[in-house]
Formats: sequence, structure tokens, C-alpha cells
Amino acid sequence: MKQFLLPSVLIVLLGVGVASGGHVLVFPGEYSHWLNMRSIMDELVRRNHSVTVLVSDASPSINYNDTRDAAKFNFIVFKVPFSRAEYHAITEDFIHFSLYESAHASIFTKLNVIRYWFQRSSKLGMLQCDAMLKNQELMATLRDARFDVVLLDPMIMCGDLVADVLDLPLIISLRFSFGNVIERHCGHAIAPPSYVPSAPLPYSDNMTFMERVVNVVTYMLTSAMTEWFWSTTLDKHYSEIKGRPSSVCESLGRADIWLIRTFWDIETPRPILPNFKYVGGLHCKPGKPLPDDLEAFYHSSGDAGVVVVSFGSMVANLTAERTDVIAAALGRIPQKVIWRYKGAKPKTLAANTKILDWIPQNDLLADPQTRAFVTHGGTNGLYEAVYHAVPLVGVPLFGDQPDNLARLSRRGAAIVLDIQTMTSDELTEALDAVINQPSYKASMQHLSTVHRDRPLSALDTAVFWVEFVMRNGDANHLRPSSHDLNLFQYHSLDVIGFLLVVIVMSIALCWSAIKCVCQSCRRTRREKTD
Ligand SMILES: *[C@@H]1O[C@H](CO)[C@@H](O)[C@H](O)[C@H]1NC(C)=O
Ligand SMILES: *[C@@H]1O[C@H](CO)[C@@H](O)[C@H](O)[C@H]1NC(C)=O
Ligand SMILES: *[C@@H]1O[C@H](CO)[C@@H](O)[C@H](O)[C@H]1NC(C)=O
Ligand SMILES: *[C@@H]1O[C@H](CO)[C@@H](O)[C@H](O)[C@H]1NC(C)=O
Repeated sequence: MKQFLLPSVLIVLLGVGVASGGHVLVFPGEYSHWLNMRSIMDELVRRNHSVTVLVSDASPSINYNDTRDAAKFNFIVFKVPFSRAEYHAITEDFIHFSLYESAHASIFTKLNVIRYWFQRSSKLGMLQCDAMLKNQELMATLRDARFDVVLLDPMIMCGDLVADVLDLPLIISLRFSFGNVIERHCGHAIAPPSYVPSAPLPYSDNMTFMERVVNVVTYMLTSAMTEWFWSTTLDKHYSEIKGRPSSVCESLGRADIWLIRTFWDIETPRPILPNFKYVGGLHCKPGKPLPDDLEAFYHSSGDAGVVVVSFGSMVANLTAERTDVIAAALGRIPQKVIWRYKGAKPKTLAANTKILDWIPQNDLLADPQTRAFVTHGGTNGLYEAVYHAVPLVGVPLFGDQPDNLARLSRRGAAIVLDIQTMTSDELTEALDAVINQPSYKASMQHLSTVHRDRPLSALDTAVFWVEFVMRNGDANHLRPSSHDLNLFQYHSLDVIGFLLVVIVMSIALCWSAIKCVCQSCRRTRREKTD
């Protein structure tokens, strides 16, 4: 008995040892992606794992000098040959175009802007790749650190290649890629275009014929554009580092687990692979008590309650004209308003509105006095609203925001307005509706219940799979073997070809057999008549 017990106890202890003392290497994304990744990192640290963050010195949103963060995480900072301002400018220009110019732009201008944006960001991305992979000292440090797993947001290029070179298991955290190309091509996710809308098209799974046409064309165009873009830029770099023909998709396709930052509450049903885990809302948590000044402000709102307004961390200021329209509308409602806003004070700002540089958004949304949330529809804020059941007025700006808000609008939990054409009256009416018509709150409450009602919370699910990979070394048993097939094999084209040949040959054989039989019949008949 003892003989059997001892090894198994040892194994269990070893398992626990790795599970609560693992070394995780993180390549976080920037902006809201960083905030989301931090939730996983915080929980890993709480569970006694060591978390190392690899960050460039030009990172626009990760403050590696923050003493509180430095006490929790190990930051490895590497030099890149460009500045923070240069990195930030690419994003700013894209947002500026989306906000102020895209409404009047032709489809060709839009495609050209996207191409130019791809080109600029990939140029910096490749400089960053070189700064990591060709820095022998950095790579030696990473190798010596003996990490157990790499956690990557693919917004950071080449993190997967670092994992590949160091031969470490890889976990990818992703919200979506344009046309879902990364998920489809590299992760082999299954996406029948008949009922799985291509991100970020604002369609439901019940598409009209024309929507399905647009959906199929979008899948094809995004596939072709992305593959072309990769093959002319990053694939060469990947091949050079690996010393043999390779590609972005091969490297990303190594991933053991894909953590997708959405969930079935707002996502429509679709076929999924066993190594795709849906963990939308993993950053949501109960609210903390508000700071004194905000608490007093909330208290002063009485029965009317408070409306929270934020257009996200990336959009610092809107035009003065749009800001005045919004401020005027907010001034007309009986609620008090907290508005996260950085620009110059709007002329039409009313006494009920408090403007702040930064707000504790989750804590504000958690407060039962909060009646509605005016949002641009970024995934993080949207999930916080779902978690705390706060109905929305959505003003989408760019990216997946129109899609996100369309999903909530279809479920009766949001009213969506157009930032370009919206009037003060429309915003006031929308706020009045979501606050005073009970259906909006009820729909949001239902979504919130569905969101929370799962066997393991989103954060616990994400961290479970990180720990699973650390305990077991990989999650290969969940990764489909389609990754080992070539294109012909994957689509069974070789089999179809083989079967066609068999069928054609069978028909030909039958035909000649029949011909033979007929001929001999005729011959015997002729012989008989003769
Ligand atoms: C982390 O380590 C501390 C100190 O060793 C211990 O008290 C705590 O229970 C551990 N936490 C977890 C989640 O394992
Ligand atoms: C961190 O500190 C270093 C040295 O003081 C400085 O060069 C760098 O710009 C700082 N980085 C950030 C993100 O504040
Ligand atoms: C899908 O949409 C059509 C109208 O576009 C509607 O008639 C049909 O009932 C919808 N189907 C489902 C399952 O919602
Ligand atoms: C945003 O604010 C900055 C200064 O705070 C200003 O220079 C810039 O013009 C503003 N942008 C818009 C679109 O209003």
C-alpha cells in the first residue's frame, strides 16, 4: 500500500508546487487590453505565481515605474528604436480619422487608411520584434528565467515567436481580429459564414440574404488582405528568426489555449474547439466604496440617481461642437452626471454635471444609485455595465464598438446613437427612455443574471487554464490535429479527388462492361437469325 502511495503523493505535491509557484511571462497589449490582462495577472499573483511582464520602453500605457505595480510584477523593460509619442501617434491618427473623417470618406479612402495604419504599426512592430529577438542578452535572461508558460495578447507582435524560440507553452488572450482571421487561419476556429457574423460587422446570427452576402465577402476580403499583409512583412521575419520557412500563423497556431474575451451572454452561438475558452467579463468584480467626494455627490442625487458618462481611455477629447451637444443634453436630465472627460470645459456645461479626468468606473457602475451609462461601447466598460446591470446609451466610435452595442440593443438593453449626427434632444430622450422605461433595466438585469450564472467565473476559468498548462506542460490533447494537415488534406480535396477518380473509373468500367454485354448479345442474336 505504502509503496503505491508514496510516488502518487510526490506527484501531487509536485503538481501543487508548480500550481502555486509558477513563472508566467506576459506580453500584454496596450490601452484597454493592458487593463484586461492585469486582471489575470493580479489573480495569478494572488495565487502565489510569479508574473514577469516584458514591455518596451516606448509603451504608451504600461507604467513600469509605478511602485505599486513593481512590487507585484517583475518588469523586464527593453529598448526600442522609436519613442512613446511615435507609437501613440499611430493610434491617435487612426482614432482621429474614425471620429472626424471616416463619415465622409469613400470605401477606398477607408481601406487606404487601414492599409496605411497596418503599414505604420507593423513597421514599429517589426522594430520591436528585432529589439526582442535579436537582443541576445534579453533572450538569454528570458531563457535563464525558466518560465512555465507565456501569456500573450497578439496586439504585441512576435511574443508568440519568443515563446516558440524558448520552446514554451503559449496561451493567447484575444478579443477579436478583423474578419476573425487570426482565430480562423491560425487557431483553426470554425466559422460558417451563414450564421457566424465576421467581426466587427454589427450583424446577428439571423442574417438577411444581403447581410450574408456582405458577410461572405468580408470573410474572403479580410482573409486575402491579412494573408497578403503577413506574407509580405512578418512571415519573412519569422522565417529569418526560425532559420526555415515559417509564418505568423504557424507560430500563433502553436497556442495551447485561446482565451477569448467575450461570452455567450452577448456572443451568438457558434461551433467552438476544445482549446477555445470564452472568458468575457473576467475583469468584472463587485464595486468598492466610493471616495468621499464622489460618495457625497452620489448622496446629493437623491431618488433621481446618477448617470455615468465615459468614452473610454483612448479618446481624450471630442470636438468642441460635439462636446457642447452632449453637455447640453446632460444638463436637461433630473439626474446628476459624472463625466469622464479631459478636454476644455464645454460652454453648455450645467450644474448637475461633474467632469473628471479619471473615474473609478467599476465602483460607480456598481452603485445602486447609478441609473444609466453613456458609453462608446468598448468591451471592458460594456461588460462592467452587464455585470452590474446598468442600462446603456451607446455612442460607438470605432473598431468593435458598433458591433458590441448592436448586440445589447438587439437584446433591449441599450439605445444606440450616432456621434456625428446626434442632437441634444435625441440624447436626452434616449436617457429618459433607458432610465424610465422598465424594459431596459429588466433586459440588462436578465443579461447580468445569465452572465454571472456559470459553474466557474470568467476570471477563475482563465486562471484555471493558465494553471492547467503550467501543471501539465501543455494542453495538446485539446488542440485539433488539423494543425498537422495541409490545405488539401484539411478540406479533404485529396479525398474528393480520389473519390471522383474512383467514380469516373467505375462509370467507365460499367459502361464498357454494358457495351461488351450488349455487343455479345447482338452478336449471338445475329448468329441465331443467321
Ligand atoms: C500564498 O502564500 C502565502 C504564504 O506562503 C500563503 O499564506 C497563502 O495561503 C498562499 N495563497 C494561495 C492562494 O495559495
Ligand atoms: C521610467 O523611469 C525611467 C528612468 O527614470 C525613465 O527614463 C522612463 O521614461 C520612465 N518611464 C515611464 C513610463 O514613466
Ligand atoms: C430571422 O429574421 C427574420 C426576418 O428577417 C424573421 O422572420 C425570423 O423569424 C427570424 N428568425 C429567428 C429565429 O429569429
Ligand atoms: C484635444 O485637445 C487638445 C489639447 O487639449 C487640442 O490641441 C486638440 O485640438 C483637441 N482635439 C480636438 C479634436 O478637439
